[in-house]
Amino acid sequence: MEKIQVLDKHFVPFITQEQLEQRISELAFQLNERLKDKKPLFLAILNGSFMFAADLFKKIEIDAEITFVKLASYQGTSSTGNVVTAIGLDKNLNGRHIVLLEDIIDSGKTLHEFLPHLQSQNPASLTVVTLLTKPEALRYPVQMDMIGFEIDNKFVVGYGLDYDGFGRNIPGIFQLADE
Ligand code: IMP
Ligand code: MG
Repeated sequence: MEKIQVLDKHFVPFITQEQLEQRISELAFQLNERLKDKKPLFLAILNGSFMFAADLFKKIEIDAEITFVKLASYQGTSSTGNVVTAIGLDKNLNGRHIVLLEDIIDSGKTLHEFLPHLQSQNPASLTVVTLLTKPEALRYPVQMDMIGFEIDNKFVVGYGLDYDGFGRNIPGIFQLADE
């Protein structure tokens, strides 16, 4: 794979399609074991996780549902602080085994604010699965049950992840070039 350009920036090959496929198969295997007979509801966070969710879900062999939500952040009261809600969440989570799918956990702010909102709907269990995380960038405590890859604190694109809206269609993951 060669260096690529997305808008004004250059990116170098980082995680190949083959590596993604291999790791996603391992994650799916673990989920198939862990959630057997639980009829889990997968909750994929748009936009970034659409490709990861599609590939992972094809490898889920137990009875399962999937739904897609967008997260919106707004300023709550001074006691609640920032509130993140799910737009398009058309399922009742009460008593369900939820598998949250995220493309990347960076500072952890988004999920730190959203998970309490999910928990308040009393799911039977919550499994947080993220394809990528940047341990050096983490600033908020966040539940992470399964991680695809721990990566350096550098910007990445491809496989659903964007730079200013572009680059989501690149089949592998590319990292910002040093120059
Ligand atoms: P957090 O709230 O800081 O954890 O940010 C999470 C969100 O930021 C992710 O869902 C992505 O949409 C975006 N993000 C963080 N790092 C990257 C990156 O390297 N490339 C593309 N998007 C990123
Ligand atoms: Mg995202």
